[in-house]
Amino acid sequence: MEIRTVTNVEELRDAAGAMVHYFGREKPDEAWAERWLKTFELERMHAALDGATIVGGAGAFTFRMTVPGGAMLPTAGVTVVAVLPTHRRRGILTSMMRAQLDDVHERGEPLAALWASEETIYGRYGYGLASLSLEFEIARIHGAFRPGLEQVGGVRLVDAAEAAKLLPAVYDAVQRATPGMYERAAAWWEQRMLIDLPEFRFGAGPKLNAVLEVDGVAQAYAIYRLNVSFGNLGPETKVQTQEVIGMTSAATASIWRYLLDVDWTQTVAARLLAVDHPLLLLLARLNMSRPTISDGLWVRLVDVGAALSGRSYAGDGSVVLEVRDEFCDWNAGRWCLESGEAVRTDADADLALDAADLGSVYLGGFTFRELSRAGRVEELREGGLARADELFRTDVAPWCPEIF
Ligand SMILES: CC(C)(COP(=O)(O)OP(=O)(O)OC[C@H]1O[C@@H](n2cnc3c(N)ncnc32)[C@H](O)[C@@H]1OP(=O)(O)O)[C@@H](O)C(=O)NCCC(=O)NCCS
Repeated sequence: MEIRTVTNVEELRDAAGAMVHYFGREKPDEAWAERWLKTFELERMHAALDGATIVGGAGAFTFRMTVPGGAMLPTAGVTVVAVLPTHRRRGILTSMMRAQLDDVHERGEPLAALWASEETIYGRYGYGLASLSLEFEIARIHGAFRPGLEQVGGVRLVDAAEAAKLLPAVYDAVQRATPGMYERAAAWWEQRMLIDLPEFRFGAGPKLNAVLEVDGVAQAYAIYRLNVSFGNLGPETKVQTQEVIGMTSAATASIWRYLLDVDWTQTVAARLLAVDHPLLLLLARLNMSRPTISDGLWVRLVDVGAALSGRSYAGDGSVVLEVRDEFCDWNAGRWCLESGEAVRTDADADLALDAADLGSVYLGGFTFRELSRAGRVEELREGGLARADELFRTDVAPWCPEIF
């Protein structure tokens, strides 16, 4: 089985076709490839070939992701990973991950991140669960907020062209302050966020873009659809959000108030929210909103030294980590973290853990103590867990609002 990067658009379509197969759709057409290549570089698509036939693919977007402290680090956004069912469980995924992570390392990208279809797949390649996602299914009759909240601004429905001008500034402000969010270029907005292809409506109506403005300045937005239905007793429409973001607490509460008050609707279904989302404390009847938690972003420290040195830390202390990393052995060994820099050391280690578990604490989504309670980190010197948690502490939960 040969693993190599694709050399032309036809091969790209075949390699991505392995993933599209599992969505029960035809091989991606030329129009798809044209759109895809506005946000994706051809040479970042690996393919697995059985003779002349492409039977699997693994791609990566090139972007910069916010890490604690606000720096944006070059990150491989791993995407469209699949192997056709005719060739499963022969080690093809492992070979593609090998080729892809070597490529990411050579490019000097310290991080790789992905959304996993199943949580059992990527730990073996050093990816750790780095953020959680919150989902709500809010019955409109239970959608009241606690009393005393003041609404701000006014909401306008805008078309995609106007949304492309107004929404990015709101997103960028939140992205810069939120670990796990990545920069979006104009093409990303156009080709992924605002495009409204009929085949992705799944029975719902067109994409709607609501912008909340305060004194003429966009401060929050909601991209959503109405999934309209009628029962014997009247309308039973569902509001399905794609992305809802506010720059301030008041703007965030106000755009949610707008969504929760749309007439003819019975529920608001919202996925991929931050696990520390203010709705948890805004809703008067939280239990009636059916909050559910699931996995979010999975993060891999491809270059442990550069990744650890690239984020900021809460305290002045130091900690020595013994990192096990079988898949990317260039990371394995002892790292001393002090004054914001990670350097190799021979000093005694405070903690020992796998690279995947370092991925889980990296953005601040989990603490070392939580890992320890799950048997995933060993404290080798007394106080090591407390010292590490003091350093890695962050004040905002990592969040990735979009599956890429
Ligand atoms: C997941 C998928 C890519 C695996 O490809 P594959 O070529 O069969 O995987 P490999 O043969 O390289 O498996 C490597 C290891 O992972 C394990 N593994 C693979 N898929 C797994 C899964 N879904 N759940 C648990 N373990 C899995 C294998 O058992 C094997 O374990 P081992 O090393 O202990 O023997 C493939 O089944 C697929 O395309 N699934 C549907 C699409 C999908 O989910 N893609 C991932 C999107 S994020």
